[in-house]
Amino acid sequence: MVKIAVVVGSTRPGRNGEAVARWVHDLAGKRTDARFELVDIATYELPLLDEPVPPSMGRYGKEHTQRWAAKVAEFDGYVFVTPEYNHGPSAALKNALDYLFAEWNNKAAGFVGYGSVGGTRAVEQLRLVAAELQMATVRTQVALSLFTDFENLSTFRPGDQHEMALTTMLDQLVSWSQAMKSLRDSSRMATVYQS
Ligand SMILES: Cc1cc2nc3c(=O)[nH]c(=O)nc-3n(C[C@H](O)[C@H](O)[C@H](O)COP(=O)(O)O)c2cc1C
Repeated sequence: MVKIAVVVGSTRPGRNGEAVARWVHDLAGKRTDARFELVDIATYELPLLDEPVPPSMGRYGKEHTQRWAAKVAEFDGYVFVTPEYNHGPSAALKNALDYLFAEWNNKAAGFVGYGSVGGTRAVEQLRLVAAELQMATVRTQVALSLFTDFENLSTFRPGDQHEMALTTMLDQLVSWSQAMKSLRDSSRMATVYQS
């Protein structure tokens, strides 16, 4: 069965992101076609990228990088739960993505954004970043409004309609995670036969 991470993309004290990620994880946890785990980038305490060698070379020197890489490598797909900061994703999430390379490659990704217009501008930027990391991003995304899905801009009360979007996004993400897993397995087989 594929394993999918629900990545909490903000690290700010008092962040809304944790409640949003828990809502995603609770709904996803009712499914029987994949296993889901909450992954909070805050707990990895990643400094601003401090590896001397580019991540695409796969030579991770720092203990925090190795710990983060080991966690990310466990999954076949990711739900990135992202705030919108200045029309982009959080620097913390971008930094966590930049830290690694191979661990993201040939995996699937879906997005849950939140902000004044549903975090859509942050998600659009993340799609470009994900493409460079060789990730397959599903079309459906969840767009939560700070004004209608949070009381006083801080207590998360999602409208019922978002459950349908989340379910559709997860349907797409699970099937693409399965497809990408078989792609990784078959390219591994091709490497074995060539060697
Ligand atoms: C530095 C900063 C910049 C922000 N810029 C935007 C923005 O451009 N668009 C938007 O919709 N919301 C913006 N917001 C509002 C955030 O989307 C909102 O505060 C959200 O709750 C942040 O996520 P977090 O609570 O998980 O950190 C900004 C918030 C911060 C802290």
